[in-house]
Amino acid sequence: MQAAAAVRNPHLLAPSAGRARHRRAPSTVRMALREDGPSVAIVGATGAVGQEFLRVITDRDFPYRSLRLLASERSAGKRLSFEDREYTVQDLAAPGAFDGVDIALFSAGGSVSRKYGPAAVASDAVVVDNSSAFRMDPEVPLVIPEVNPEAMANVRLGKGAIVANPNCSTIICLMAATPLHRHAKVLRMVVSTYQAASGAGAAAMEELKLQTQEVLAGKAPTCNIFSQQYAFNIFSHNAPVLENGYNEEEMKMVKETRKIWNDKDVRVTATCIRVPVMRAHAESVNLQFEKPLDENTAREILRAAPGVTIIDDRAANNFPTPLQVSDKDDVAVGRIRQDVSQDDNRGLEIFICGDQIRKGAALNAVQIAEMLLK
Ligand SMILES: NC(=O)c1ccc[n+]([C@@H]2O[C@H](COP(=O)([O-])OP(=O)(O)OC[C@H]3O[C@@H](n4cnc5c(N)ncnc54)[C@H](OP(=O)(O)O)[C@@H]3O)[C@@H](O)[C@H]2O)c1
Repeated sequence: MQAAAAVRNPHLLAPSAGRARHRRAPSTVRMALREDGPSVAIVGATGAVGQEFLRVITDRDFPYRSLRLLASERSAGKRLSFEDREYTVQDLAAPGAFDGVDIALFSAGGSVSRKYGPAAVASDAVVVDNSSAFRMDPEVPLVIPEVNPEAMANVRLGKGAIVANPNCSTIICLMAATPLHRHAKVLRMVVSTYQAASGAGAAAMEELKLQTQEVLAGKAPTCNIFSQQYAFNIFSHNAPVLENGYNEEEMKMVKETRKIWNDKDVRVTATCIRVPVMRAHAESVNLQFEKPLDENTAREILRAAPGVTIIDDRAANNFPTPLQVSDKDDVAVGRIRQDVSQDDNRGLEIFICGDQIRKGAALNAVQIAEMLLK
């Protein structure tokens, strides 16, 4: 059922921009659109993350005075309904796109962020950027609100700035690894990912759906977004492979973890794989600690961690799945067990699932925007 909901065309917004579970009773007074809220622009509003921004804004009653929906000239002029109002998608390249904007939520790819992010900053907007364009810039905070809110200390509404949202796999991993790291200090982390189609955008989700139908019908699969058959297959992440043999997605996890934890010595290695799941990533994470950490203590730490849900029922063999976390805010952690290859309780194995369009992108960005309002 969830998969069916997830493959709907994300460009076709329901009248209240939400799915059935998000809709409110008609008599509910909406608090989000209000005079004392910031003026918000969404760059990439027609995309998978852009559409999720709108859902998250509704779900969290994020206050806004006005809303500007920006995309490329391809979508300019398209009409979208959101919270009972009609909006016309505007061309990002048109002059004055950021005039009067306080917060600009960017999710239109790195080249768009590089080109238009500085223009938004020059208009005194705070840009929350979902691309990798500025993540490793030492002047740009790279923020997961539950993990390193202190990195935002110098960012103020009304003063142009860029804040970067980490890579989705990094966010999901660190939501679970950080509480354990705070307790016993992670020395080394080995990550294997199982990444969903949604991580590659709306068109990739459509391609997986189409390929599944084609393969079941005995036809050759259409490969536009990915270079090979995705349905009923898995393959190494489609990010470019670097000279050291790692792909870009893997090296993002390595570098971003060091920056977010402010720990240049933490050793991280990753293998990132695409699996034919529509929405939500899974990650197997092996941790090596400086101090001993037994699995029961780890479970208690994770139980108390904000944004984390434990699904760890050994008797029923019930552990996190992408379907269980799809459309959910929390990341789910399970398979919490001592690593038998490490001595003195200095190693743990955990398995994490998280909706990477939500906590891995839109929710994390809106949480960052909420911090600006405090
Ligand atoms: N999907 C995820 O889970 C995820 C997670 C974390 C970060 N991100 C990042 O978020 C960004 C968008 O991802 P997505 O999955 O939402 O992609 P998507 O579904 O393909 O959407 C791309 C959006 O960007 C717009 N766009 C593309 N080129 C543009 C241009 N030249 N000028 C203005 N707008 C342009 C598109 O507008 P049109 O309708 O006009 O084409 C569309 O709204 C990427 O940087 C991605 O790395 C994605």
